[in-house]
Amino acid sequence: MGREKGKLWVLAFVLLALIIFLVPAKLRAVEDSLCFECHSDKQLVKVDDVGREVSLYVDKANWENSVHADISCVGCHTDLEIMKTEHAEKLKPVSCGQCHEAVDKVYQGSLHAEAIRRGVQDSAHCSDCHGTHYVYPKGHIMSRVNPMNLEETCDRCHADVAFVKEHRGIPDRVLPGLVYKESVHGRAVKRGIEGAASL
Ligand code: HEC
Ligand code: HEC
Ligand code: HEC
Ligand code: HEC
Ligand code: HEC
Repeated sequence: MGREKGKLWVLAFVLLALIIFLVPAKLRAVEDSLCFECHSDKQLVKVDDVGREVSLYVDKANWENSVHADISCVGCHTDLEIMKTEHAEKLKPVSCGQCHEAVDKVYQGSLHAEAIRRGVQDSAHCSDCHGTHYVYPKGHIMSRVNPMNLEETCDRCHADVAFVKEHRGIPDRVLPGLVYKESVHGRAVKRGIEGAASL
């Protein structure tokens, strides 16, 4: 084989690799930008089942800095796989557990998850502690489970007088010591569940 032909092969390989790496990223950006055509509108709201207005605005900059920017909107909103400019009014609830299986297993054993199974729908779901669109690693100052923000995250429910009254028996203040001891993942560490030690 001539040297020129060898070089051509290398070039072809490099081009192929570039196409493989660049195309999905580009498609992803297109998918998400279609969502933002409507969901970057701060006025966009829906009315939920109990008649409350819920904002449908997603902040692009905060989203792009979040841990999930790479999985794109449809990574979680899986019933929107095929991108159209309009979609159904009601979408399937998001399952964090589909990707975070190990954490989900720990969570399913927690008191919060037990309560949801008993029908206490306003107990803590993953997104109540981590957020929906602006999820960051716990070391990030904007993470809701950053030690600086954790008390506020738990206290949204646990220090809400009406909420505590409605859920008799729950702690009316979740102090940092208890947070660690009782948090779903803290418990897992105590029991030594494999893979949870770093959570
Ligand atoms: C043409 C505008 C438009 C586009 C494009 C669009 N949406 Fe929506 N979206 C809406 C409107 C309007 C609603 C509110 C529907 C209603 O009245 O309840 C909504 C509601 C939603 C909801 C809440 C659904 C529920 O069950 O309450 C989600 C989640 C959502 N959109 C995600 C997305 C994602 C992800 C994309 C991109 C793949 C996207 N949307 C693209 C207009 C749009
Ligand atoms: C990490 C998972 C995840 C990703 C990725 C994600 N979402 Fe969501 N989204 C959620 C969760 C959780 C909810 C709350 C409702 C539920 O549990 O299904 C939600 C709700 C919504 C709603 C309804 C309003 C609200 O805040 O409850 C809209 C609109 C929406 N998402 C749009 C988007 C758009 C646009 C993108 C991409 C820019 C996106 N989502 C990416 C998890 C995600
Ligand atoms: C489609 C798969 C997928 C879904 C669904 C998903 N995640 Fe993730 N999540 C990931 C990936 C991939 C990473 C890792 C990003 C990285 O390590 O850079 C991640 C990272 C995280 C992190 C940060 C962990 C760390 O070590 O920095 C948290 C917290 C998190 N996800 C919570 C959630 C929550 C809460 C939901 C539901 C609202 C959810 N995830 C839904 C794929 C997913
Ligand atoms: C009651 C609140 C709460 C609920 C509910 C919850 N988490 Fe967490 N999560 C935490 C706290 C607090 C930490 C940080 C623990 C620590 O400091 O080590 C954490 C840590 C994590 C981490 C590691 C984050 C990092 O940056 O290292 C991931 C991933 C995660 N949770 C995913 C989930 C998923 C997925 C669910 C649902 C299946 C869930 N969590 C439910 C409170 C919660
Ligand atoms: C979305 C609301 C909500 C958030 C956020 C929340 N909790 Fe809870 N929590 C509840 C509810 C509701 C119960 C009661 C469940 C039941 O009925 O057994 C509960 C129960 C508990 C209990 C059990 C009390 C007992 O002994 O029966 C502990 C401990 C607890 N939460 C700690 C936390 C910590 C720590 C955080 C933050 C990391 C947190 N919670 C965040 C709603 C919440």
